[in-house]
This record gives sequence, structure tokens and C-alpha cells, in this order.
Amino acid sequence: MEQYIIKGGNPLSGEVSIGGAKNAALGILAAAIMTDETVTIENVPNVRDTRVLLQAIEGIGAKVKYVYNNSVQINGGGICDMNVDYDYIKKIRASYYLLGALLGKYRQSQVALPGGCNIGSRPIDQHIKGFKALGADVQISHGKITTKAEKLSGGHVYFDVVSVGATINLMLAACLADGDTILENAAKEPHIVDVANFLNAMGANIKGAGTDVIRIKGVQRLHGTTYSIIPDQIEAGTFMFAAAATNGDVVVKDVIPKHLESLSAKLIEVGCEVVEGDDWVRVIGKGSLKSTNVKTLPYPGFPTDMQPQMAVVLALANGSSMITESIFENRFKYVDELNRMGCKIKVEGNTAYIEGVDHITGVEMSAPDLRAGAALVIAALAAEGVSQIDDIEYIQRGYEDFEGKLAMLGAVIERVDSEREAQKAKLKIS
Ligand code: UD1
Repeated sequence: MEQYIIKGGNPLSGEVSIGGAKNAALGILAAAIMTDETVTIENVPNVRDTRVLLQAIEGIGAKVKYVYNNSVQINGGGICDMNVDYDYIKKIRASYYLLGALLGKYRQSQVALPGGCNIGSRPIDQHIKGFKALGADVQISHGKITTKAEKLSGGHVYFDVVSVGATINLMLAACLADGDTILENAAKEPHIVDVANFLNAMGANIKGAGTDVIRIKGVQRLHGTTYSIIPDQIEAGTFMFAAAATNGDVVVKDVIPKHLESLSAKLIEVGCEVVEGDDWVRVIGKGSLKSTNVKTLPYPGFPTDMQPQMAVVLALANGSSMITESIFENRFKYVDELNRMGCKIKVEGNTAYIEGVDHITGVEMSAPDLRAGAALVIAALAAEGVSQIDDIEYIQRGYEDFEGKLAMLGAVIERVDSEREAQKAKLKIS
């Protein structure tokens, strides 16, 4: 079990380069198997979630080759198995994108039912409703979802909730269906647009991605291409908020500032200076932070994946703040850990009431999930003294070389994998 040992108190400063978007990569890697030709995908973040999905893709018979650390070649010509193993889906829910990808390409797919996830109940009824609207028969039995379509035809889907996963899964299946599909109340996240652009680069005909109505004209086949994934909005946001929480000065490079607008707006509200360039944003702490209120919403609203990091910033601000979580009901599991550091946060239902404090202290804690784990790292960087964070494999699901990038900004952080190393690191840095 690996851990982070962090000594807080240093304002972060310098430049950090952001990698490819994990959530776009998961859709794109699944989509890549939909042609028999070779596809080269660049700017793939080398994180645990993408590695697991690539293993799942290999597991059904596709060829996968890392060309460089962040560049992968996939050939889906040799796929011989429509059944994605439970082992993969247990590790990452996004392997359910293979449901839509295989259904589109082979008119059938079978994927283990994703289990409960630790940020709340995550049903997939909208995915199933969409596949049925395309004429697929969808059965759930023995813990598996099986789709089969004698004839996969275009259809009209009105999503009851805005779902990133369902929108991507339906784009995948519909782009090789016969005829036209309309997806209404679709998600608008930048990674939806990226998956659509990638499918179009393979020969699909998808229009409207990025709006809430997506129109797809089915095509007969897709072909090989080379494609580079967009920068990760959440990785960028995490470094921006780390700069704010430590009263630092950080240039976050290789980003699309437009995708970060809801984050920049909140940072300005709490009193930071945010300067935008063509492909960078600079966040400058200005001493004390001001309180504000935040509600998570689908894009272009404030992302739920930045909610825990925002809580850390507000926990250190002057005055009372409120965070309302409207996407997932169980996303405040980090609050107990923050309170042990000296924060004053009370959760009632889907709202966290935060009373700002002027300092917090390092403690030993565990990462409850990916983004909450990142938030605890930010808190540890802002705290007095040394913290230990356990269960950092959650953080490694979505951040490539997190500790390396933070260290380049002046953070005192060590990754260790035994109690002995942890003790040594604590002695070294304290
Ligand atoms: C994706 C992201 C995740 C992010 C989330 C919201 C990936 C791999 N993960 O997750 O990081 O936090 O979007 O931006 O891209 N819902 C239903 N029925 C469904 C599907 C969803 O009721 O069939 C509900 C969910 O319970 C949730 C809301 O819709 O309340 C949004 O979920 P969704 O956008 O689907 O999240 P994911 O795609 O799982």
C-alpha cells in the first residue's frame, strides 16, 4: 500500500504541465476498437484507469501497443470475445463504454454490471433506455448486461438525467447504427466533444456535441486515424486550487482556459488573481481567502469532480460558505478527515456548511476516493506540519505523477510504500 508523506506550509510556485483528460481518454480508448484499422491516440494520461481499460480491451482480443509513455496504438481487428470480464468493471466503471462500442460494431456485447461506487449510487438506466431505443434487446442476468440487436437502427433518445456516461455510450453505439439518431438532454462536457471529434476523425457523422442535442447519422464503417486527447480540466483545476489553498503563484500550462471558466470564476470570487493566456492560466494567491457558495452542476456548471478541492479552499477562507452537491449524493466522505485537521465543516443532506479557519494541522488520513484524495493532498500542503495520506492508489487512478508535479512546484511530498519508508520520510522532511 503506497502512501504520501507531506510537509505543508510551502506556497506552491512555478509552472506545471497538464496531461490528457482521463475521462475523454476512457471514451476514446473504448471507441478505438470500433474499427479494424489501427488507431493511434496521443496525449493519453498514463494513469491507473486508462491502463485498466487498455487491459480490458486486450482481454477481448484487441492489440494494444504503447508507442511512448502517452501514445497508444490500438487495433480492434482481432476482437474475438464480446464479454468484458467483471475484474475490469470492478476496477473501473468506464469499461461499460465497451457495451456501446461492441454493440455498435458487432451488434452484441456483454459487460458485468458495474457495482456500487463509493461516491453514491450510480444507476445505468439511461444507457439501457438508449440502447433499447436503437432497437437492441438488453437483458440483465447473473450480474451481466447483455445487448443484442438483429438490426441496430437510429432512434430518438430523451435522457431523463444529464449523464456523461450515457451520452458517450449512445454516441458509440449510434454512430454505426442504420439511420439517424437524436440524443436530447445530452451532457455537454468537453470530453463529450472530444469523443465525438475522435469518432468523426474515424469517419463517423456526429453533429451538435457540446450542445444538449446531438445528431448522429449512422455510417457503415469506421477507419483508422491519429488523434490527440484534450487537456484534463480536473487535473488543471486541482493544481489551480492547490495554488489558492497554499497562497501560491502557479502557471498551469497546456490547458484550454475556456474549459476552466467555472473554476476561474470561483477563484476570483474567493479573492485570487487569475490571468489567462492562450493555453495557460496563472493563479496568484492574494493573502486571505473570502467565503462563497458553490453548487455542482453538469458542464458548464461547477464540476462535481472539483467539489472536494473547492471545500479545502473554502475551509481556509474567512467566513461561512456552503457547498451543494447536486450530482452524487455521497461525495462528502473526506469531510471527517478535514475536520480532524482542524477544519469546521458540517454536512446535512447534500450540503456542506463550512466555517473558515485560519490554520489547519497535519494528521494521518486515508483517501476515500479519487478527487477526495486529491483534496486531502491539497489540505496537507496547506497545513502546518506533516501529514500521511494512505490509500493513494485512488489518487493514482486519475493523476499522472501527481507527487512529481507537486514537487516541481516546491511541495515537500514523498511517495512511500512501507511503514519503514514512511517513518524515514517523516524524519527526513520534518
Ligand atoms: C462521469 C465522470 C465522473 C464525473 C461524472 C459527472 C467518467 C469516466 N466519469 O461519470 O468523473 O464525476 O461524469 O460529471 O467520465 N445517472 C442516472 N442514470 C444513468 C446514468 C447516470 O441516474 O443511467 C445519474 C447519476 O447517478 C448521477 C448523474 O446521473 O447522479 C450524473 O452521472 P453521469 O454523468 O452518468 O456520471 P458518470 O458518467 O458515471
